[in-house]
Amino acid sequence: MNDFLPPPGDESGAGHAYAALYNVVYCSRASAGVGEADVQRIVATAQRWNPEHGITGMLVFGSGIFFQWLEGPRDNIRALMGRLRADARHGDIVELSEVEEVRERLFPDWAMELVTADHIREVLRDARDNASDANHERALDRLLEHLDSGALSGLTPA
Ligand SMILES: Cc1cc2nc3c(=O)[nH]c(=O)nc-3n(C[C@H](O)[C@H](O)[C@H](O)COP(=O)(O)O)c2cc1C
Repeated sequence: MNDFLPPPGDESGAGHAYAALYNVVYCSRASAGVGEADVQRIVATAQRWNPEHGITGMLVFGSGIFFQWLEGPRDNIRALMGRLRADARHGDIVELSEVEEVRERLFPDWAMELVTADHIREVLRDARDNASDANHERALDRLLEHLDSGALSGLTPA
């Protein structure tokens, strides 16, 4: 379990608003037959596991595409990414960005919030309007850029 040891000076990230925060954004294609009931099960799993591992974030599902924002301690997120890659409910996982920086969490109260594709821009613009620091704003800008990029065009109505 050495993978879970935090680097020297890092207090594991969990619960520390200003510890180094590792953030991964990826999108993937839902496997054939995966629908709302599966997504509810995924969110239930995430809401059980993530809080114990200092992970917060957001999952968007629409038009057969997943888009997930994960933030927390690097080792816990890399371990989760390993499990995600082995999960048959989706494939073609594309990591859009990974960044480690010292900032507050974007969504501190979300163990894993399911956001509908219709509402994603609204949620992010709201968060950006209320952003408390420049790193926060940059992180939200990155998210909005991902959404506006062609790679995610399946998520929201044209
Ligand atoms: C799109 C997607 C997002 C997921 N997000 C999470 C998550 O945030 N946290 C989590 O613990 N599991 C998440 N899962 C489920 C994991 O892939 C995996 O099934 C779960 O961690 C249990 O792992 P295990 O079957 O190896 O025990 C997600 C699965 C999918 C398909």
